[in-house]
Amino acid sequence: MQKITIAIDGYSACGKSTLAKALAAHLHYTYADSGAMYRCITLYALRKGVIKDGSFLEEEIVKLLPEIKLSFKFNPDTKSSDTFLNGENVEKDIRQMVVSENVSQVSAIHQVRVHMIAIQRELGKNRGIVMDGRDIGSNVFPDAELKLFMISDTEIRTQRRFDEIKAKGLHHVSYSDVKVNLLSRDHEDTHRRENPLVQAKDAIVLDNSDLTREEQLEFVVKLVTDLTLSES
Ligand code: DC
Repeated sequence: MQKITIAIDGYSACGKSTLAKALAAHLHYTYADSGAMYRCITLYALRKGVIKDGSFLEEEIVKLLPEIKLSFKFNPDTKSSDTFLNGENVEKDIRQMVVSENVSQVSAIHQVRVHMIAIQRELGKNRGIVMDGRDIGSNVFPDAELKLFMISDTEIRTQRRFDEIKAKGLHHVSYSDVKVNLLSRDHEDTHRRENPLVQAKDAIVLDNSDLTREEQLEFVVKLVTDLTLSES
């Protein structure tokens, strides 16, 4: 069956990654978490002391880009892919609150976006990929055969992200910290000048507030099956 490109965009903590991972595993496609890539740049800049107390010089972050090598590797224990920064598994570190608090600003830098988008397009050049993020259907893969735009109730999103952070052993973060961060990232991601989060015209909206993981997967697998059958 012909492999296609699947772009999943939406607000923070809508369950994009969960659905994208399950879909990629089901279809035997590659999964790529574009948010994790922006998180890696942010983590590296924090470690290098270039971001201090929430402020930074864009040029300092841009200078670091050639030093940063990103990769993804499947983890058989968690059955999903881990993110590697210069060979180090940073899957847990990139989910820290301090990274979440700075990543929207870092992802708004022009050169950072150009650099990341080139890597994302290279990853998807042979199709057979599920990539999630904010501008995947609208900008990275405008020709993707299937584009989803995910939405979900704010309290449900907050609870999901809060549970995820706790499961990673980061116990000092409160529910309200998570909610404030999600709302502020929604604002920054939809209002930035370059490639803001928008629903692509040809995207299908998926509100998963009241759907189980299995129901979401079933819904999207049916869309993929209909598409690939009609194209073959
Ligand atoms: O999906 P996430 O919450 O891990 O993404 C972290 C941040 O990265 C998000 O607040 C905005 C940015 N991002 C982006 O600008 N473009 C993407 N394609 C993916 C993420």
